[in-house]
Amino acid sequence: MHTRYAIISIYILLISSTHAVNPRQPDPHLKTANQFLAPQNAARASLRLRPLAWDARLERYAQSYANQRRYDCDLKHSNGPYGENIFWGSGSGWTPAQAAAAWVSERKWYSYWSNSCAEDQECGHYTQIVWNNTERMGCARVGCFRGRGVFMTCNYDPPGNFIGEKPY
Ligand SMILES: *[C@@H]1O[C@H](CO)[C@@H](O)[C@H](O)[C@H]1NC(C)=O
Repeated sequence: MHTRYAIISIYILLISSTHAVNPRQPDPHLKTANQFLAPQNAARASLRLRPLAWDARLERYAQSYANQRRYDCDLKHSNGPYGENIFWGSGSGWTPAQAAAAWVSERKWYSYWSNSCAEDQECGHYTQIVWNNTERMGCARVGCFRGRGVFMTCNYDPPGNFIGEKPY
């Protein structure tokens, strides 16, 4: 029986962003999926790991959980059966690409040889992204009510971040 890491990290993003989505974009759903995927699959590709596939079932799970978080925008995990990376930012303009880039940026704190993270830093979002056995991902983004910010969540299957195992 594996034990999962509890990944609880808080992105306190103080810069409020008001970036507008391009209204001419033909398929906003596809654009969202690609924004989540591209930075994460680029991180995997640089390690020669297979790309994650977008998965509609995981997307529905992520959307259903994100909808629950719309009321408080709390950075809380769903505690479901999947791997999960979550993001919160104040303001309304945060994009999926920015959330994915924030997770991938933990790479600089991670040491592969000792399979450890720099002191007082968080690496668990990154190690989930580059977990070799993970094959599928689905994500969602919601703007929270009463200006509480933006919440995004990605779910991963099979889940990663098993204690004592290297991601790849
Ligand atoms: C990653 O997974 C693939 C497919 O299961 C396997 O062939 C490969 O050896 C694994 N790579 C590493 C570094 O574990």
